[in-house]
Amino acid sequence: MAEVTLELKSLPKAEAYRQLAQHVRGVLDGVDDEITAMATMSCLVHHAFGHLWTGFYRVVTPGRLLRVGPYQGTLGCLEIAFGRGVCGAAAATGLTQVVEDVHAFPGHIACDGRSASEIVVPVFDRRGALIAVFDVDSERQGTFDGVDRDHLEALVGWFRGA
Ligand code: SME
Repeated sequence: MAEVTLELKSLPKAEAYRQLAQHVRGVLDGVDDEITAMATMSCLVHHAFGHLWTGFYRVVTPGRLLRVGPYQGTLGCLEIAFGRGVCGAAAATGLTQVVEDVHAFPGHIACDGRSASEIVVPVFDRRGALIAVFDVDSERQGTFDGVDRDHLEALVGWFRGA
């Protein structure tokens, strides 16, 4: 059955993302609900790699405020202002943030003290409006790099119809 979660962390990263993307696109085939897509991506990315926290902060007030969900992992902070922490930086700049060591990132918000590195990818809709950021946190330093950036940006391209 196609809808089970895949555990891919033993594979080379690019191959893991290739399989993951195929799985996500397959599960979302015919789906046009953004929350369903966010829940599906959070679940499949989280379990594929065994991350600490994986999920979305949605834009509830454009230019000002993000609110949590859907996500997988431990309790996330409920709201984050644009410009605050790594999520807020991604939202304010519209650019992916790859943070090797969260403790070295000014203003990092520690929802879970075990978080050591993270990546946050902005999510745009078909009209080019920022609708969310996709935040993935790891317990290990330096987990994320350009490979994660490229593949996670491609994954959330679903929201702009790519
Ligand atoms: N690490 C994020 C906060 C959100 S959580 O870790 C779930 C940040 O600094 O933006």
